[in-house]
Amino acid sequence: MNKIVILTGAGLSAESGLGTFRDEGGLWAQHRIEDVATPEGFARDPELVVNFYNARRSQAHEATPNAAHHALARLQKDYDGEVILVTQNVDGLHEKAGGSAIHMHGELASALCGACDHRWPAPLEMAPGDPCPSCGAPAARPDIVWFGEVPYHMEDIAAHLFDCTIFAAIGTSGQVYPAAGFVQEALMNGAETVELNLKSTDISGAFAQHHIGPASEIVPAWVESLLT
Ligand code: OAD
Repeated sequence: MNKIVILTGAGLSAESGLGTFRDEGGLWAQHRIEDVATPEGFARDPELVVNFYNARRSQAHEATPNAAHHALARLQKDYDGEVILVTQNVDGLHEKAGGSAIHMHGELASALCGACDHRWPAPLEMAPGDPCPSCGAPAARPDIVWFGEVPYHMEDIAAHLFDCTIFAAIGTSGQVYPAAGFVQEALMNGAETVELNLKSTDISGAFAQHHIGPASEIVPAWVESLLT
């Protein structure tokens, strides 16, 4: 059976009004990764970290999917084969568009207990020291994979990369591993490789095909070509 694995990154949601990380003026130009996206930063200043993700959660809550999210959801529904979305995005826009995705970097809509690993739907505003509804420990944290932590669902993702026929990466800079290495795994397994991005990236050379432009234009066109 044909299987397409599609890795998505922040560029996919840029036209939904959510800032990317590394483009000019992006999130990592405004905040230090060490402060807001590491377990050490959380231990030092939980309020800063919780507030950073509260702000992102409220932006994501207001955001609506763009034409690229809708096209990918349509591909999942109508493709003659399997379409696996693996997203680094934590905004939930694939689901709002009617699709489903493997969330390798966690989700803003989820809270995680640092003591017992229980997960529950995050309130719009989390507070440092919120109690876990399962074990009661005051150890709630955003369910986001921080630098130095292992991304989620890596075994499932590896299995999909092993038997996919097409691997595509959309709106991701290829600067964060392990996601940046997926194209190499797919290539080794004989998949056709496609990169869709506003511009070329550090890993463009690994892809056989390139579609350059805004996701809201190039993704629907690419999806159309796969469905006809
Ligand atoms: P980056 O901010 O690193 O890269 C965004 C990519 O999207 C760039 O390659 C842009 O060229 C492209 N882009 C921007 N606007 C676009 C548009 N309208 N259409 C198409 N492409 C566009 O974001 P990611 O690669 O997703 O991790 O970053 C990966 C991870 O780094 C994130 O998941 C996050 C971050 O640190 C964690 O927080 C754990």
